[in-house]
Amino acid sequence: MHKSKKKYLFIITIIIFISIIFLNYNNIFLYLKSITTGYNIKTIKVFNDNNIEKQITRYSETLDEAIKQDKFNPKFLDIYYNINYQDLDNFIDLVNNLATIGYNASDINAIFANINPSNINIIINNTYDTYLGEYIKLDYFNEEKLDRYIKFSNNQEKLNYSIFFDNNTTFNALDIVTLVNANLDKEYYSNDLILTDEESNKTDAIVNKYYQLEEDFEPNNLTTIDSKYARNDSQLLQKEATEAFNQMCSDAKLENISLYSGSAYRSYKYQNTLYNNYIKKDGLTAAETYSARPGYSEHQLGLAVDIMNGNWSYVSKEDIEYSWLLANSYKYGFILRYPENKEYITGYMFEPWHYRYLGKELASKVYNSGLTYDEYVARNLN
Ligand code: DAL
Ligand code: ZN
Repeated sequence: MHKSKKKYLFIITIIIFISIIFLNYNNIFLYLKSITTGYNIKTIKVFNDNNIEKQITRYSETLDEAIKQDKFNPKFLDIYYNINYQDLDNFIDLVNNLATIGYNASDINAIFANINPSNINIIINNTYDTYLGEYIKLDYFNEEKLDRYIKFSNNQEKLNYSIFFDNNTTFNALDIVTLVNANLDKEYYSNDLILTDEESNKTDAIVNKYYQLEEDFEPNNLTTIDSKYARNDSQLLQKEATEAFNQMCSDAKLENISLYSGSAYRSYKYQNTLYNNYIKKDGLTAAETYSARPGYSEHQLGLAVDIMNGNWSYVSKEDIEYSWLLANSYKYGFILRYPENKEYITGYMFEPWHYRYLGKELASKVYNSGLTYDEYVARNLN
């Protein structure tokens, strides 16, 4: 053998010898295992101590880091193992906190994929929410409302302020996001959102128990509805809505359906008079199920019309006018605004006569969605 090769072999033998002295057999085994699996020696030791190496068939950076940082909780082994590692200083602390509350690996992965790390404390500061892992993935989930979704989800009886709410209803992930976006986690009239003049003049303006109009708001293009299709000659809507309404009534007439406007644009002042009269007649609670407070009525937009049937009564569920409107009104840009079984969402009783003009395109979309306008806005325009 060449002399230098001999020397080389000698040095290697010495190194192996020293290694055997300093590391016992077991440590060499750990060391080799660390090389082949990618885990830290410390991690491999913990696997051995806890007798879990058989469960580990691949490398998990989260698990490795949890152990390396001395933050490993054996209860959460499965969670560390299945979580995608995130390069954040406090990552393992956040994981431990989320796991302690009750979130599983799939929830935690969804949380890191969808929530800004600076907002994860909002989740940690609340109690476990069964639906969170699901709703944070939805398109119309809005991170700014995270705290509200969790509180609403964990306290579904919150809708108790509504006399329409049936306490046996439980909401799924989709409902939670929709209802909170629609502000239903808050009491009626508690939102104080006043539409600007510009917003109020748009065909898609949303007005309900959370969004109100200025007292002095008046649409600038009010036009009289054709007297053939109106109770009297002072029925006004915004021009575009008036034209659509006339056309709808004229087409309905061809099918022997008679439609009339019984009440269309109402000023703030007039709504105030109506509202107060209803309170005198039926009391506040009852009146508020069918009459908007002044400033909260779509009639003030000049885009809502209460429709009468051929007998000059407001349309009711049994009328052929009702079926006709339900099947056709969206083609002219009108939707039924306060449908049956959606009272807890709209805040109003079923009003088979009250139609809202949204324009053909939007009305078709809302109609096809099967949602109330409040829900539609909550999912699409929020
Ligand atoms: N009846 C509807 C809710 C209104 O007063 O505007
Ligand atoms: Zn109405």
